[in-house]
Amino acid sequence: MTTRRNFIGQSVGLTVASLGSLPSTTLLAAPPVSDVMTLTLTASPSAIQVGPDGTQPTQLWCFNGQFPGPEIRLRQGDRLRVRFVNQLPQPSSIHWHGIRLPNHMDGVPGLTQDPVPPGGEFIYEFDCPDAGTFWYHPHFNSAEQLGRGLIGALVVEEQTPPALDHDLTWVLSDMRIDPQGRLNESFSNRHDQAHAGRIGNVVLINGSITDRFMLPGPSRIRLRLIAATNARLFELKFKGTKDSSVQLIAIDGHPITPKPVTEAIGLAPGQRVDLLIDLDASGSLLIEDHAYPRNVYKLAEITGVGTQQSHSKAFKTTNLQLADNPVPPVARAALRQARSVPLVITGGAMSRATRADGIWQINGHAMTDHRREDLHHMKPNFKLKVGEVVQLQLDNQTAWFHPMHLHGVVFQQVMADQSLGPYRDTILLSPGQKMTLAMRADSPGLWMIHCHVLEHQHSGLMGYFSVES
Ligand code: C2O
Ligand code: CU
Ligand code: CU
Repeated sequence: MTTRRNFIGQSVGLTVASLGSLPSTTLLAAPPVSDVMTLTLTASPSAIQVGPDGTQPTQLWCFNGQFPGPEIRLRQGDRLRVRFVNQLPQPSSIHWHGIRLPNHMDGVPGLTQDPVPPGGEFIYEFDCPDAGTFWYHPHFNSAEQLGRGLIGALVVEEQTPPALDHDLTWVLSDMRIDPQGRLNESFSNRHDQAHAGRIGNVVLINGSITDRFMLPGPSRIRLRLIAATNARLFELKFKGTKDSSVQLIAIDGHPITPKPVTEAIGLAPGQRVDLLIDLDASGSLLIEDHAYPRNVYKLAEITGVGTQQSHSKAFKTTNLQLADNPVPPVARAALRQARSVPLVITGGAMSRATRADGIWQINGHAMTDHRREDLHHMKPNFKLKVGEVVQLQLDNQTAWFHPMHLHGVVFQQVMADQSLGPYRDTILLSPGQKMTLAMRADSPGLWMIHCHVLEHQHSGLMGYFSVES
């Protein structure tokens, strides 16, 4: 078993850190509805220690000099107002992954706004209708900009957050660095584009290789996991001591009926899960990543220390069903009558479809970047009216995994028995997999659809749909 104390693939010792406690904002009395949270996010180069002992700080691009960027926390229904300042040597933007917002705030250069030039600024302002775990990142030259560190968590708390001992967020990312700590700068090279994307050699939790966490036990923990890697997939197995338990309570921000975690939890780039962990007094919980069978490693170990007074025992008997978000449901009848839209994914290594204009295609078309010019010769993959329901027929005709993401909407997988799966904004397609998604267009505008393996996105696996009022 490998740990992350060193480069993945080498063996090691442990570092220990305290998890800290509940962010103080969550301890305050509930603010009046429709508060405005105002902040500035400045993207600029910074050197940050991410590698193991013996490496130098790595030259990254960061929000406010932090990696990951500052966690933004606000209440459901509140308004977020962000002044984005671009101090990078190239244009940029911020996209608010998973937030259902007005199209002109979606942060997609060429589609919803002009790119923010070096030295430029842009004000994002929108309400957050859904509680849950979301994140933010640029949407310009994404493979490089996210690969250099421009990622951050956006947590929307319930109006009345559930009783817990700790509410923690882990932004999961990885980096490709050399033994001195220098970042490999061949972003979106042709090999990564045509294969599984840029997979790093250090895996980071909140920007750190720390893999051991101590918490006063017993305790009840809400753990929010965000897969913010360019390409790395996670397949997490949980091994706890006897009185510890792990439940899945939300997927991509949206609550589900809590379900004990008995198998590995898959987490692909862009996706999130919320877990409810009950940790016994001196128990421990081991989290291993089995996504790549030849490279299984320990992601983290959470250990309970002491017998600190905790509410855990009392909480355990309480129901942690979070309230549904105000997503307009897809009506059965509407779904039966819904138009089918095919989305056929082709290309990549081992494919005959690889062409000069892009390595990957959606319905035969490669969209390789979203500068403004591109729009004028690219038509939307499909067009909808506000309120319209469609069935998206995804067909992955490639030999590769693709976490497909849609902006501005949530969707549900239509299961074999016609039941609808949980709400998601990003869903992983296995090689050769076909899948039907049900979705309802809520908000007018032009919305992206793309693979969240950023090297695939960069080399063609991208398109958009339009919603007209
Ligand atoms: Cu998180 Cu269009 O992306
Ligand atoms: Cu998004
Ligand atoms: Cu892909």
